[in-house]
Amino acid sequence: MALIAPSLLASNFLKLADECQMLNESEADWFHLDVMDGVFVPNISFGIPVIEQIRKTTSKICDVHLMIVHPENLTEAFKKAGADILTVHFEACKHLHRNIQQIKALGMQAGVAINPHTRVELLRDVLADIDVVCLMSVNPGFGGQSFIPHSLEKIRALRTMINELNAHTKIEVDGGVSLENAKQIIDAGADVLVAGNAVFKSADPKQTIHQLKSL
Ligand code: DX5
Ligand code: ZN
Repeated sequence: MALIAPSLLASNFLKLADECQMLNESEADWFHLDVMDGVFVPNISFGIPVIEQIRKTTSKICDVHLMIVHPENLTEAFKKAGADILTVHFEACKHLHRNIQQIKALGMQAGVAINPHTRVELLRDVLADIDVVCLMSVNPGFGGQSFIPHSLEKIRALRTMINELNAHTKIEVDGGVSLENAKQIIDAGADVLVAGNAVFKSADPKQTIHQLKSL
């Protein structure tokens, strides 16, 4: 059974309190919060003040996915806003090891996201230090894109590497996850499924979360 992390990027921002309540009543495990800066990715989403408000609505884990350059400048601010897991992008960090240590020193779990073009092998030397690898199965920046099929091979390769190193890192898969492909993704070795549109644009989001959780 995988953990389910609905991405609020696909929620109705005018009804954010209701959307958070729905997730609280659902079997969702984590709140996935996508932060975009218009520089690292060609889109802007929401930031610290919004996350502060979301934090007040829930005791579930707040999983903050930073798609921003220089995340080290804002690590403490995201901790204060209430992040439990803080994920930075491999491609945005010149000193990834330092970023990971900074996040952990502040008492958060450290996540590292990799883009579709980034080989999982590049994480080998820091894998044991990472709590969550967020394997992007679309190019980051937008919800509602199609799952890139090659991601399945990357999940398998990452699972093998985690086993080889006897690490406890979780594999989170982000982008284009749906009821149709979720089983394959779990079978390939995913621990956590992020789902934006598949949850929030479905007729019955709680039921969709339940179905994802039952796979
Ligand atoms: C994309 C974000 C994803 C996105 C997923 O840049 O990181 O978390 O919200 O949305 P769906 O599930 O609709 O692809
Ligand atoms: Zn995300």
